[in-house]
Amino acid sequence: MERDFAGRVALVTGASGGIGRATAQMFAARGAKVAVVDVKDAEGAETVDLIRRAGGEAFYMRVDVSDEAAVRAMVEKTVATYGGLNHAVNNAGILGQFMPLHMIETSKFDQIIAVNLRGVFLGMKYQIAHMLEHGGGTIVNVSSAAGLHAQPNLAAYSASKHGVLGLTRTAGVEYAAKGIRINSVHPGGVITPMTTAIFASMSEEARKAAQEVPDQHPLGRSAQPEEQAAVICFLSSDAASNVVAAAFSVDGGLTQV
Ligand SMILES: NC(=O)c1ccc[n+]([C@@H]2O[C@H](COP(=O)([O-])OP(=O)(O)OC[C@H]3O[C@@H](n4cnc5c(N)ncnc54)[C@H](O)[C@@H]3O)[C@@H](O)[C@H]2O)c1
Repeated sequence: MERDFAGRVALVTGASGGIGRATAQMFAARGAKVAVVDVKDAEGAETVDLIRRAGGEAFYMRVDVSDEAAVRAMVEKTVATYGGLNHAVNNAGILGQFMPLHMIETSKFDQIIAVNLRGVFLGMKYQIAHMLEHGGGTIVNVSSAAGLHAQPNLAAYSASKHGVLGLTRTAGVEYAAKGIRINSVHPGGVITPMTTAIFASMSEEARKAAQEVPDQHPLGRSAQPEEQAAVICFLSSDAASNVVAAAFSVDGGLTQV
């Protein structure tokens, strides 16, 4: 693998599993030193272990992305540990239960917005402040296909992911001329702990019914986390030097039908 991130520092939130872990591993394999951020400590340590065993460099930090003081400290600790921050990926997120809007507990709505939207806002706020003072950088925010089109029975999640698109587009334009490229990715279904947990929470009957629904992705399948990581790393790389404020669908065509 090309080591085009050698000498760079990357920070990935939600990197204890799924898309975040695959992204942290890919950054490391391409030469970056990686700050692995999550609230699942054992799995975060496992991500670091996987990276180190493959010859890469990483450390784990427990940070709740909805906690402002913790997010400020996250950027400070990354810079103190590795001497800078060139590439940030705001990926941490939660889904919530599938249910119609009027059934959603208001506290649950607030929690989903706090992690998925406030978390991305806080991440960007402190990442951008650092990058402005230190020669620029890149930020990729992980939204969703649900940030581009309706996602029935996931109103809070869909609203939070549409919000991530608004933050990305606006900040992407605000900071483009200042050397910070900000873009979002919008995955369709990806096989990760998040989606596995949905099936696990279903009754046997509901699971069977769900498995009988034909796959909605024109590609005919869900994605692997590595397919998302490849696009996130592309957007972070110099190969994407002209890509700014873009919403990248990585969804097997899901949002085009
Ligand atoms: N899996 C999919 O089908 C899919 C589709 C579209 C978008 N996404 C988005 O991709 C991102 C990654 O999801 P994934 O599928 O890899 O799921 P995942 O559950 O494996 O990963 C999400 C990670 O975020 C962490 N996290 C949750 N709350 C946090 C908090 N407050 N602070 C710090 N970390 C926190 C979790 O511990 C977890 O490790 C999420 O933003 C998700 O919404 C996933």
